[in-house]
Amino acid sequence: MKNVFKNKVLSGILSISLFSITTVIVLFNPSQLNADTALPVVTVYKSPTCGCCSKWVSHLESNGFVVNAINQNDLGSIKRELGIEPQFQSCHTAKIGNYVVEGHVPAEDIKKMLAEKPDIDGLAVPGMPMGSPGMEGPRKDNYNVLAIKKGASPSVYNSH
Ligand code: CU
Ligand code: CU
Repeated sequence: MKNVFKNKVLSGILSISLFSITTVIVLFNPSQLNADTALPVVTVYKSPTCGCCSKWVSHLESNGFVVNAINQNDLGSIKRELGIEPQFQSCHTAKIGNYVVEGHVPAEDIKKMLAEKPDIDGLAVPGMPMGSPGMEGPRKDNYNVLAIKKGASPSVYNSH
């Protein structure tokens, strides 16, 4: 009789514990948390008057990135310093970890690069294609995200 009672109490405690553990796992999905907290801070060099640059910064922020935006008028010097050749250049230039990101590169491609860690200098969307993040407008043009590396030809990292 005593043992039956003990078993009932034990199984009660066990089911409450299982329920709590399940609830905690559902509420705090660890892979989701890690994916966001592991993102490095993005440093963006942009012109103080560039509207599409600010919109790209907002695009990154709404995709979980923390952005440190630095306004400066001479962006040519930072592009030269980071080795972004003229044919790959756009408006803003960003540093993320050891990578460079030039222009309106979608957040999903940056996350893919951070996860895959390819042996490249970074990603670039040359020019300012209509319909890229921060360049939303009346039409959406097709554009490529290029993987760039000093001394090597660029390759297409993703097409949109
Ligand atoms: Cu732009
Ligand atoms: Cu820009």
